Amino acid sequence: MIQTLEWTDSGVRFLDQTKLPTEETYVTCKTYQQVADAIRNMVVRGAPAIGVAAAMGIALGVQNSKAENVSELKKDLDQIGEAIRQTRPTAINLFWAIRRMTEKFDRVRVRPIPQIKQALIEEAQHMHAEDIAANKAMGHHGATLMPAAGGVLTHCNAGALATCGYGTALGVIRAAVEQGKKIHVYADETRPFLQGSRLTAWELMKDGIPTTVISDNMAGAMMKQGKIGAIVVGADRIAANGDVANKIGTYTVAVLAKEHQIPFYVAAPFSTVDLDTPDGTKIPIEQRNTREVTHIGGRQMVPEGVSVENPAFDVTPAQYVSAIITERGIARAPYPESLARLAQSAGAGSRL
Ligand code: MRU
Repeated sequence: MIQTLEWTDSGVRFLDQTKLPTEETYVTCKTYQQVADAIRNMVVRGAPAIGVAAAMGIALGVQNSKAENVSELKKDLDQIGEAIRQTRPTAINLFWAIRRMTEKFDRVRVRPIPQIKQALIEEAQHMHAEDIAANKAMGHHGATLMPAAGGVLTHCNAGALATCGYGTALGVIRAAVEQGKKIHVYADETRPFLQGSRLTAWELMKDGIPTTVISDNMAGAMMKQGKIGAIVVGADRIAANGDVANKIGTYTVAVLAKEHQIPFYVAAPFSTVDLDTPDGTKIPIEQRNTREVTHIGGRQMVPEGVSVENPAFDVTPAQYVSAIITERGIARAPYPESLARLAQSAGAGSRL
């Protein structure tokens, strides 16, 4: 399996996604600041992966702490959490992971310092294993929604590279293929960072799953030609009403899907659902460096001085979402009710 990120004795090791698809290289972060930079600079990316990276960054920072008592250690933990919190604002998994590590600290704070440090390392490792298990469960639920044969479109990379392994949207596709479904993936290239062409195509090729890369502006034509039977994407944050923040361009795909009466599915672990955010208008959207738009492979593509925007995500209103696939089961509209029911049913795996 692709090792997107892992805890090692010498630090947190990441497959450097900025170098793919041409170079498969790994970087080992030895400090929490290096982990924060890896998240900010997209060495590691994808909501579930950055959540676990954040947890491992906290474990690493606490491990390196020189604190001599628990209150000093807690101060260090808060400072580490704050630095990691500043990296990327949209994916809720990052904040979920920081909260979970802080809660773990609070539960073990009565123990000797070496044991507290060990407990946090173990918590981060659990989160890694849980993420893969959640993806497998999502795959199991979601595969039933995939067509027996034909094209399935995905946007960005919601695969092994965006998680600790197997993937969310690509996990659903992998599970369907494992069940014998004859799926051909259409991967939007996903301008400007090219997660579709660089990452989705790379990992699906490794698995031998037939894949065609299209530029983002070809998606509508492919749908009109009848090449797409279903769409499945990941999510960075799902509001309580079912609105979905995901990679910029997802909204366009969802609107096109509705026009062509193609089901549009979102696959995400329940840690991506943010019941404290009532709807998509309240989801903070990360604005990234405009150089990602103006330059391709180091070459300038836009005249100097022209105004450029680079929002990393958009919000797809719930009305365009046919179903939300989670490890706890499948939610359908009305989402306020179905998501709230899933929230009550940890591990239930029910179809709501
Ligand atoms: O900017 P990125 O590459 O981190 O954005 C990733 C996405 O938008 C994914 O679709 C989302 O995080 C889900 S990954 C399982």
